[in-house]
Amino acid sequence: MISGRFLLLLFGLVGSIRCDDVENSHVDISRRAIRPNPLNGHWIDTWASMPQLTEPANLPPAPFNQTGAVFVNSTIRQTLHMSVGANQIRLKISNAFGVTNLPITAVSIALPANDTAGIHQIQAKTVQKVTFSGQDSISIPNGALAVSDPLDFKIKAQSILTVTIYVKDGQTTNSITSHPGSRTTSWWQFGNAADASALTITDSSTQSAAHWYFVSAVEAWVPPSSGSLVLIGDSITDGRGSDPNQNNRWPDLLLARLQQSPATRHIAIANLAAGGNRVLADGLGPNALARIDRDVLAHPGVKYALLFEGVNDIGTADPSRAAQDALYASLTQAYRQIVTRIHAAGIPVFGATITPFSAPANFTAQPYSHPERERTRVRVNAFIKEAGVFDAVVDFASMLADESVPSQLGSEWDSGDYLHPGVRGYQRLADLFPVGVFGAWEGGVGGWV
Ligand SMILES: *[C@@H]1O[C@H](CO)[C@@H](O)[C@H](O)[C@H]1NC(C)=O
Ligand SMILES: *[C@@H]1O[C@H](CO)[C@@H](O)[C@H](O)[C@H]1NC(C)=O
Ligand SMILES: *[C@@H]1O[C@H](CO)[C@@H](O)[C@H](O)[C@H]1NC(C)=O
Ligand SMILES: *[C@@H]1O[C@H](CO)[C@@H](O)[C@H](O)[C@H]1NC(C)=O
Repeated sequence: MISGRFLLLLFGLVGSIRCDDVENSHVDISRRAIRPNPLNGHWIDTWASMPQLTEPANLPPAPFNQTGAVFVNSTIRQTLHMSVGANQIRLKISNAFGVTNLPITAVSIALPANDTAGIHQIQAKTVQKVTFSGQDSISIPNGALAVSDPLDFKIKAQSILTVTIYVKDGQTTNSITSHPGSRTTSWWQFGNAADASALTITDSSTQSAAHWYFVSAVEAWVPPSSGSLVLIGDSITDGRGSDPNQNNRWPDLLLARLQQSPATRHIAIANLAAGGNRVLADGLGPNALARIDRDVLAHPGVKYALLFEGVNDIGTADPSRAAQDALYASLTQAYRQIVTRIHAAGIPVFGATITPFSAPANFTAQPYSHPERERTRVRVNAFIKEAGVFDAVVDFASMLADESVPSQLGSEWDSGDYLHPGVRGYQRLADLFPVGVFGAWEGGVGGWV
């Protein structure tokens, strides 16, 4: 049995703010370098991206990529689109897929010049050093995650944050963690330029790419009523068809709408989607069933989850009736599994219907297009809408379907490939999103669910 005195000693040693009465809590908090504001707040993602094993073609260009090492003696500068504002933030760096240690030498954050995404210039007076449990450096073991110390750094909702990482020794492998579908330009140079107001760019073809490396989440310290909406999705949520450096993916446009209303302004969006991702099979990123532990359940402050995925399962399965029937059975079972597991954390799960992907007969560049796959899409959407598995339904399919040919995207919403919406289509998803679901599920899910 552990005595009360021992517990007291233990709490004293770790500097916990857990106290028997509120009166005493200021004593413990004052030991911290930073005073949480608000005092009763919690951490949530104000930004996140899905960590993936980087495909060879998505590694940085040479000479920042060598055989057996990446980013040796390199400073990497990246810009991230915050969702909610906060007075304090902290950073997470992921080595989830790296097969060697990721030895981070120095990290800083700043606001970018002109508050603009995708550039390497910063507002020099805003630079702040980022530390990890009091140290400037941290060696993140393979498979692991690092969280920074809290930073007194005010961010506004929908603003851009610049994160700069210097890796003196690089990572000695070509298997590293990234999020290729950033749709945002990142920059690098040799040497330590963590605090530089601009990187030294002599060749943008080798010193930049539209990928994010290592950055995994920015957490915001927010009031207890604030929480995040986590999106589990594929390229349509990752923003294929949106504009580079414009942050006009449908989740960004939904965020802009949520920010306009006091009823939804406290909801952050964590976009855990990746192009090509599937529910049932690995490929571009791990299958959704495998990754929800890391990408949903391990994130703090998740208040809602939305599942909008399955098109790549349907589209890559053989178009025979038997294969599609088997896929339907497995996919709907997987939806049930995912919802059951997320419900165990008290989090409601919304289901989005799969948007049309058929193309007219004279357009052959849409490989998913097939009548048997369309039949599966219709059946899966009926399941999402009618089986009662999801806590609410977000009917993206009906928002984007062509009125006369519902198996196809409406031409005004299509990016041109009959699969990914363009920005007008993404705006429509944001405009028609049933935002009442947030109030309806404010209290989470409980009981036998
Ligand atoms: C990076 O180097 C690895 C190992 O030599 C190679 O397989 C990969 O294609 C390279 N990628 C780029 C983008 O240069
Ligand atoms: C910031 O905006 C000003 C005014 O439009 C422009 O002249 C300048 O080049 C911009 N700076 C960067 C780094 O983009
Ligand atoms: C790192 O790069 C800088 C800038 O090119 C260079 O001056 C320095 O010598 C390099 N350091 C090492 C250890 O290679
Ligand atoms: C396909 O046919 C439609 C209707 O006849 C036409 O408007 C369109 O331009 C054609 N597309 C291609 C790729 O040939």
